[in-house]
Amino acid sequence: MPAAKQLRRLFNDTTYTMETVLSGIRSTGHLHLGNYFGALKNFVKIQDKYNCYFFIADLHSLTTHPHPDDFHASVKTILAEYLAAGLDPEKATLYIQSDVPEVSELYVLLNMIAYVGELERTVTFKEKVRQNPDNVNAGLLTYPVLMASDILIHRANWVPVGKDQEQHLEMARVYARRFNSMYGVEVFPEAHNLVFTGEAIKVPGLDGTGKMGKSNGNGIYLYDDEKTITKKVMKAVTDSGPTEPNSPMPQVIENLFTLLRLVSDQSTVDYFTEKWNDCSIRYGDLKKQLAQDICKITLPIKEKIDAIYNDDAYLSKVVASGRDRARASASATLTEVRKAIGFRAF
Ligand code: TYM
Repeated sequence: MPAAKQLRRLFNDTTYTMETVLSGIRSTGHLHLGNYFGALKNFVKIQDKYNCYFFIADLHSLTTHPHPDDFHASVKTILAEYLAAGLDPEKATLYIQSDVPEVSELYVLLNMIAYVGELERTVTFKEKVRQNPDNVNAGLLTYPVLMASDILIHRANWVPVGKDQEQHLEMARVYARRFNSMYGVEVFPEAHNLVFTGEAIKVPGLDGTGKMGKSNGNGIYLYDDEKTITKKVMKAVTDSGPTEPNSPMPQVIENLFTLLRLVSDQSTVDYFTEKWNDCSIRYGDLKKQLAQDICKITLPIKEKIDAIYNDDAYLSKVVASGRDRARASASATLTEVRKAIGFRAF
């Protein structure tokens, strides 16, 4: 059943047409191009077309035990960068995950229907265990349950995320189905990724390995200045160049073209593709163009970050109004959930 119809049935309200979108980003440092193209850019694009909730996942960031002195600043950083990138608190509900305790209650309840075996098989969990064998905490294991709680607490239909989060989204659908069928009530709709380019995005790192990530040390940040961006791009890993016309691209070069397709116009992409195909490509020119086109997108955002970050009065207003709206929606869901499970007042 399409999500909108499902919602209409749930609320028994034929006038309800606006579907709900929800997404979040962990508060661990500045946002990079992966966060921007995988998530934030789409948040901005859809904020006036849907009933949107965008939040800062500060509880999720606790799996790595940030120092208390840094914790608040990290949350503030993401909030300032959300706003600088164009999120409008008048259009979307912007809030901090820990300000909405209903999320944590739903997390406890969903943990009862989440099985350890399926959580242990999650790709991100296995990756974290490999990377940090000394910090395999239970929060890491149940990370997808908390993420499902974020999504289900507002009964979201759409969740714009990058490719790396798709398995978590699939698990949220599993928990929604399991809950509905266990209790025989359709409390939760099934949420799907909201993608605009055919498939979910994976922004590569510039070091030739995998995806751009905060912990991979390969990020270009919205907060980077022009010099830093140019330096990072000029240092990107390349090879000795094509020797045969029209040869397939090795991964490191494909990565540069993936970035180029995200930030440059079609004629620029076509120009460098032709140069690759006739073996006359000069990587220095390609990188210079790439750095320039990245700056065109990120510098106007960067310019606004500091002023917003330092405007505490404005930020507290945004956070308070987001919290109230998010809690109203969350507690309505929780009432349905508690009723379905069998909690009754004495
Ligand atoms: P996080 O904080 O790691 O990343 C935030 C968003 O950025 C996307 N992303 C990328 N997209 C493309 N290429 C990349 N290299 C790249 N790196 C990051 C992620 O896919 C994500 O959309 N668990 C989530 C946060 C979260 C959440 C949620 C998201 C918590 N609860 C509920 C949606 C709904 C996370 O760690 O994202």
